[in-house]
Amino acid sequence: MSSKSNGNIITEPQATSTLVETGEVPVGKSARDEETEMRAMRAEKFTGYEGLKLVNLPKPAVSDGRVLLRVTAAGVTPLEHTILSGHFPLAKAPLILGSEGAGVVEEGGGTDFPAGSRVMFTGTYGVFEDGAYSEWLAVPKENLCLIPEGVDDVSAAGIPVAYLTAQVALTLAGFRAGKTVLAPAIGGSVGNAVTQLARASGAKHAMSSTTNHAKAEQARALGFHEVIDTSSEKLGDGVRRITGGYGADIVIDGVGGEVFSEALATLAPGGSLTTLGYSAGRKTTIDVTDLIWKQASITSFILFAQPQAAWADAWNTIVALLQSGAIKPIVANTFPLAEAAHALRYLVEGRPFGRVVLTI
Ligand SMILES: NC(=O)c1ccc[n+]([C@@H]2O[C@H](COP(=O)([O-])OP(=O)(O)OC[C@H]3O[C@@H](n4cnc5c(N)ncnc54)[C@H](OP(=O)(O)O)[C@@H]3O)[C@@H](O)[C@H]2O)c1
Repeated sequence: MSSKSNGNIITEPQATSTLVETGEVPVGKSARDEETEMRAMRAEKFTGYEGLKLVNLPKPAVSDGRVLLRVTAAGVTPLEHTILSGHFPLAKAPLILGSEGAGVVEEGGGTDFPAGSRVMFTGTYGVFEDGAYSEWLAVPKENLCLIPEGVDDVSAAGIPVAYLTAQVALTLAGFRAGKTVLAPAIGGSVGNAVTQLARASGAKHAMSSTTNHAKAEQARALGFHEVIDTSSEKLGDGVRRITGGYGADIVIDGVGGEVFSEALATLAPGGSLTTLGYSAGRKTTIDVTDLIWKQASITSFILFAQPQAAWADAWNTIVALLQSGAIKPIVANTFPLAEAAHALRYLVEGRPFGRVVLTI
């Protein structure tokens, strides 16, 4: 099987998706006991796609004040690829991947999240504890947000990480209406969320970029008119053209590599670049005068290190903008849980425009 995205052909990943019995559930059962067991996509080892296996495990219990969710969809993020490739030493195998998703409250949500509520969530699931590539998950209340009317579960599953990251990072960078913002990679989850939130919140310019001409066309068709097509124009030239030579007050960069240093050079006087990801590479070379001569700064960001109050404020902003229709999450493709390895490969190698989501 192969699928096509923006000119990149994705071939079938090597991972097997056959269901394996594990030591956790008695072997020899002819069918899964749906009362007590669940299917999950677990990384047995961190050696690449083939480490992912579909397993039967016991359902989590409601304990420690957690809320039991029937997961309906899970967002696929580059973090799972980093972990599965063995590049995140703090994660330990075996581990069910998936740090965000959507689901329905089964039990334990009290009056804030009554049984039957549709919720979206993120936390350190799939990193320090089992995650969302799973039929059931128990999560603390503070990691939940009610899904607004009109947002379906698949779209909601891809909202938490990207939009919380974008909103909190913008706030920490001092964003307010009238600022000029650059967030490279319009088709990427963070680039797109920052661009949408900045635009919806009154940015003077909400700029982004893509290395792919087809994606630049797609962006225009979707109404993103300040996207620099770096296959035909340098990032710095594009920012100067759009801002009349002024530059970007705020850069939020999840791409890294050369894009980081090129984006740094676009900063306006007193501007700041927030580095939070490395899709194109962890290393780069910068021209220090891009900082010194503009009295600019570089800072970093980790969503899961932000205080609860920052998450709560960000959720309020995001939910209001979802309700008003000022921001619209974009989903590129969905895959069934059993095809998680394929979904991850499609995200990382296909670089689609929009989110990749597992339906569960
Ligand atoms: N620190 C945090 O709290 C935090 C939170 C969220 C995400 N992150 C990190 O931020 C990064 C971006 O996340 P994301 O979800 O936005 O990723 P994504 O949806 O996969 O998007 C990444 C984009 O980077 C662009 N890119 C440019 N050069 C690339 C290259 N050589 N290889 C791959 N992609 C390249 C691609 O856009 P074009 O094809 O259009 O050029 C691609 O769409 C990841 O490293 C992620 O782990 C960190």
